Amino acid sequence: MGNQVRFGVIGWGYWGPKIARNISSLSYATMSFICDMDENRLAQVAMDYPMARVSAQPADLFASDVDCVVIATPVRTHYALAREALLRGKHVLVEKPLTASVAEAEELVALAERSHLVLMVGHTFEYSPAVNELRTLVREGELGRIYCIETERLNLGLFRNDIDVIWDLAPHDVSILNYVLGEEPISVRVSAHGHLRAAIADNAHLDLQYANGATAHIHVSWMHPTKVRRVTLIADDRMAVYDDTNPQEMLRLFNKGADVGADPVISYRHGAITIPHIEWVEPLRLECEDFANAIRNGTTPRAHGGVGLAVVRILAAAQESLLSGGAVVSLASHATLVEGASTGALRVAQTNAPVDAQTGVHAG
Ligand SMILES: NC(=O)c1ccc[n+]([C@@H]2O[C@H](COP(=O)([O-])OP(=O)(O)OC[C@H]3O[C@@H](n4cnc5c(N)ncnc54)[C@H](O)[C@@H]3O)[C@@H](O)[C@H]2O)c1
Repeated sequence: MGNQVRFGVIGWGYWGPKIARNISSLSYATMSFICDMDENRLAQVAMDYPMARVSAQPADLFASDVDCVVIATPVRTHYALAREALLRGKHVLVEKPLTASVAEAEELVALAERSHLVLMVGHTFEYSPAVNELRTLVREGELGRIYCIETERLNLGLFRNDIDVIWDLAPHDVSILNYVLGEEPISVRVSAHGHLRAAIADNAHLDLQYANGATAHIHVSWMHPTKVRRVTLIADDRMAVYDDTNPQEMLRLFNKGADVGADPVISYRHGAITIPHIEWVEPLRLECEDFANAIRNGTTPRAHGGVGLAVVRILAAAQESLLSGGAVVSLASHATLVEGASTGALRVAQTNAPVDAQTGVHAG
């Protein structure tokens, strides 16, 4: 291969060109081949990337000399395209979510492993400097015991036809939670509605329960008047708000809280708000770098296939909950820790409440 990584991109819609822009900013990467089934979109490619070959057929790209393929097509196509790319000996970066089912994700992970090829998923926020700062604070116990985390990803649109809002937007929040906590939930429960089209949920609430008693709530919506991209972390020492729409104050730490006194009287703390300095680099650039470096150096990328599979498992359980009218679906039986062993640095809310074997939920 030499040291220059030859990239192919499949899918030239909203996201594909953004990935290509970041790939071409890397000195050791070349945008070699771009594929989209829509010929009109390919006409635009020729203007922006005159050196790249183009085709409407993924088979032409797979038969070419590209070292790797980025798949930025609708979710229902991820599995078949990624499988074919791996079978043709290409390293693969698949956009989020990795696949539309657990079985598909498991097969891709096994195939990549057998073939000694890199399989990575586009969990862009795991490369966000602000998310990484939050993760460090949590892992080092800087915020104290974590009670709960609330995430909001709200917007008007973009309505998709092949998937609901859970499969479209929640991959980001689930991947942030897995990455920051280093731990996966033991159960999930969903309430969701399709306001515009009854069969496709456009507003959803996911309740996640962790083995140590901590909880998380994910709200995703295509039916909201303003753009919200927020993670609020409630802990006993300090609280944190990560707002991805506020570049000046993306992460704020609140020295705020409440304690139960001896009486019992609730006492409140209202301390300073601090805003850590965060050196900003575009997350998508870091993601592309990680992928290219994994190919060049044989390293394991941060958002490797197993990380993508872990998120798909939680999305599939959420889908099961939705289909069963909001039942609590246990993940405990097939939970895999994101990074192998649980981190000792994560001090989360402890509970002595017994776990219901059926639901995975703590009593009381
Ligand atoms: N990581 C992120 O932050 C992020 C952001 C947006 C989208 N995405 C993901 O990127 C992917 C694409 O999303 P989008 O918004 O760009 O969609 P889009 O509909 O705008 O673009 C998809 C493109 O793929 C092409 N296409 C579809 N099937 C094809 C096939 N079999 N062969 C070749 N071309 C094909 C379509 O013609 C279209 O141009 C999705 O998986 C989405 O979840 C990720």
